[in-house]
Amino acid sequence: MSRVSDAELIVLARQARERAVATFSGFKVGAALEAADGTVILGCNIENATYGLTLCAERTAIFKAVSDGIREFSRIAVVADTQSPTPPCGPCRQILWEFCGDIEVIMANLASETGRYHMRELLPVPFDARHLDEDANAKR
Ligand code: THU
Repeated sequence: MSRVSDAELIVLARQARERAVATFSGFKVGAALEAADGTVILGCNIENATYGLTLCAERTAIFKAVSDGIREFSRIAVVADTQSPTPPCGPCRQILWEFCGDIEVIMANLASETGRYHMRELLPVPFDARHLDEDANAKR
């Protein structure tokens, strides 16, 4: 399968952002998650009247992909209408790390790229399943 360029992945994230349901914050975010086979899964933030049940664009894309059986990922582009980069929030970093590992996170606004990081930079000391295994082994 042919791979989209970084610029094309950003365009797809901008398109996903247009579908955001940001009724309460007015802050629309789009994500385009590239799977290892080149498939691109889109996500937008989805808010609701309780506020707390909001799902960020990144997690929407990951959960869509995982529920469709896609488990290997290579890149994600995240778009918001901000001058400075809009990085994934804490809960999204945890989910990104656990499901996508050390993927590249490309941030952009409506005009251009604003930042680029690897997940290990955004979550340098992660908690993950390895710790659960270690604990289980210690009790054996
Ligand atoms: N949001 C995202 O979707 N992704 C981010 O990386 C940052 C924040 C959403 C959550 C909420 O709907 C709105 O942006 C304001 O926080």
